[in-house]
Amino acid sequence: MIFRILLGSFLVFALSLVHAERALPQGIRSPAKREVRATAQDFFDYIHKDYQPRAEKLTAEDVEASWKFNTNITAHNEQEMIASSEKVAKFDKEIATYIRANFKDVDFSANATLKRVRDKLVLLGDANLPDAEFSELQTVEARMKNIYSTAKVCKTIGVHADDVEDKCPKEHQLELEPGITQLIQNSRDEPLLKHLWKSWRDATGRHMKHDYARYVVLKNKGAQMDGYADNGAAWRSTYVEPDLEYLDQNFIDEAEGIWQQLKPLYEQLHAYVRHSLQTQYPTVRGLRNPKGPIPAHLLGNMWAQQWSNLQDFSRPHPDKPSLDVTPAMVEKNYTANGMFHMSDDFFASLGLIRMPGKFWDHSMLSKPDPKERLVVCHASAWDFYNREDFRIKQCTDIRMKDFITVHHEMGHVEYFLQYKDQWIPFRDGANDGFHEAVGDTLALSVSTPGHLEKLGLLKNYNSNDKDAEINFMFSTALEKIAFLPFGLVMDMYRYDVFNGKIKTTELNAQWWKYVNKYQGICSPVGRSEDDFDPGAKYHTAADVPYMRYFVSFVIQFQFHEALCNAAGHKGELHTCDIDSSKAAGKLMADALSLGSSEPWQVAMKKLTGQEKMDAGPLMKFFKPLQDWLRKENDRRKQKAGWSDDVTCTGSRTIASVLALVALFVLSLLR
Ligand SMILES: *[C@@H]1O[C@H](CO)[C@@H](O)[C@H](O)[C@H]1NC(C)=O
Ligand SMILES: *[C@@H]1O[C@H](CO)[C@@H](O)[C@H](O)[C@H]1NC(C)=O
Ligand SMILES: *[C@@H]1O[C@H](CO)[C@@H](O)[C@H](O)[C@H]1NC(C)=O
Ligand SMILES: [Zn+2]
Repeated sequence: MIFRILLGSFLVFALSLVHAERALPQGIRSPAKREVRATAQDFFDYIHKDYQPRAEKLTAEDVEASWKFNTNITAHNEQEMIASSEKVAKFDKEIATYIRANFKDVDFSANATLKRVRDKLVLLGDANLPDAEFSELQTVEARMKNIYSTAKVCKTIGVHADDVEDKCPKEHQLELEPGITQLIQNSRDEPLLKHLWKSWRDATGRHMKHDYARYVVLKNKGAQMDGYADNGAAWRSTYVEPDLEYLDQNFIDEAEGIWQQLKPLYEQLHAYVRHSLQTQYPTVRGLRNPKGPIPAHLLGNMWAQQWSNLQDFSRPHPDKPSLDVTPAMVEKNYTANGMFHMSDDFFASLGLIRMPGKFWDHSMLSKPDPKERLVVCHASAWDFYNREDFRIKQCTDIRMKDFITVHHEMGHVEYFLQYKDQWIPFRDGANDGFHEAVGDTLALSVSTPGHLEKLGLLKNYNSNDKDAEINFMFSTALEKIAFLPFGLVMDMYRYDVFNGKIKTTELNAQWWKYVNKYQGICSPVGRSEDDFDPGAKYHTAADVPYMRYFVSFVIQFQFHEALCNAAGHKGELHTCDIDSSKAAGKLMADALSLGSSEPWQVAMKKLTGQEKMDAGPLMKFFKPLQDWLRKENDRRKQKAGWSDDVTCTGSRTIASVLALVALFVLSLLR
């Protein structure tokens, strides 16, 4: 998976809840009355001489324990990892309590940076909870993650997910990776897709529904003890900058506003793909409504979040080349290690920092022999917070998708390297979205046909061929545009669960309302409140916020445009390749090296010349495709948009037919 960055658990505690200015919690008093009020200088000394050296040491040990487990799954390594995170939680609590007691009233008016450090370190999140509730939350979370990661389904249609052990032959038992995923991507057998889609949800979300409700209560309690309204507000605090009068509601409004800006493009893509699917699956009932939402199981992805696997039958110009250079990579004997060195060379060509020696010594760049050790394959980038140890763990396959993922993960490490000399609380992205956007921004250059040609991966590409260019943009859109509403709905939904707008008695019904509203997707089978479909996604089960990916997919185009301008690019945005531009690299480095020491708007301004998130550059990038899609949809008489059916089982269609008949009869009676 592309979407993962693993920070040490310490930083997850301390830094996932940042920035917001608020009164310190009631009830925490200085244990010892101080005669003299502490000064900013006292605080600086404490951080510099006491906190930072201890935190660096403890964090490096903690990340090491976690690394060991993730690259060698054994019970022993798991125990070590849990013991280590308990130690870190205790340390966090000690630090926060000490700072709350001793540095609550310090006059920081002369130094906003120090105040920023203080405000980050007093936040505790889950660790605020009384011991019993803290361990209850740990248990609930572990159980949900366990349900998710051990879920199995049966390939045989008709065998229910709950009966896999008893009624499914071993060779038909499938896990998410690789078995289920491969079928969802490549099979065009509609009944099988529907069976897998439903079974995965029976095996996961349905079993964690009660745990999730309890999780919501406990997460809210911890967040409220930090002074947030609820856990959603705590998650959003990475985007909130009270000093700039950019408040919680501003962020929500801005995310929604950006979505409105993007929606016309998504709707054109949606209408075009819906029609391609109708042609591909002419007998599927749920697809017959020409203005309906798209059934969720047909989009080549378990969550309908990226549609790249539909290219074979939906490419605008089937006679023109696809831009998938996987065969060329195989032919050229690419290796995982080689792919990482190519990415490193690209970063270096921009004047960015190369991966240090230890990176190459300690990273895990391909999947080890399972007979030797089991590993968590999910790709991730690791900062050990000791200023010298940075690693990537990825089970790299030799294919284009993984080549892009390599750049994504390297972008995280480049960010780690750029901010490594900041104080620990500032070794983080300007906001969560920034961290995800770095590698993707560079990958926008790397995946242009021009650059692939330079690498010798694309032969005979005619850059004047407009049809091939539309194919290229279409494949980019299946990955980047199809994702946007999913990136938004995951947290728009969870925000409203945390704030109580969505009641625990309607968790699933509301999920489908939100999915319909943003994605225009419907459930291929009937659903009830015994189901919990958001739990079929890793990030729900594993307590990981998701808005960062929506933000990243928007701002990476802003970054790309700014770097292209710095590189002196002439011509359309989608043809830009910043390769070897030191000016572009410097622009990037100057913003990244701030870490989170300044509001994200400062980093945004450094990079793009203005402070706001904006979908303008993304819309500019895809303008030629949007024009083409609009024309093609008109030609095919496809109308953009969708009705508000939350299931596409066909029953709704029957209902509307009956309604029409009733109207007809009524009109006769008149
Ligand atoms: C995996 O961890 C175990 C400890 O549980 C250790 O004995 C073993 O040597 C490790 N294997 C590798 C390949 O590192
Ligand atoms: C704030 O304090 C830090 C640490 O002493 C220092 O590096 C920084 O320059 C100070 N900033 C201002 C604006 O005085
Ligand atoms: C790739 O490896 C094969 C087999 O080892 C070899 O025959 C071929 O020449 C290599 N191709 C390139 C481009 O190096
Ligand atoms: Zn990432």
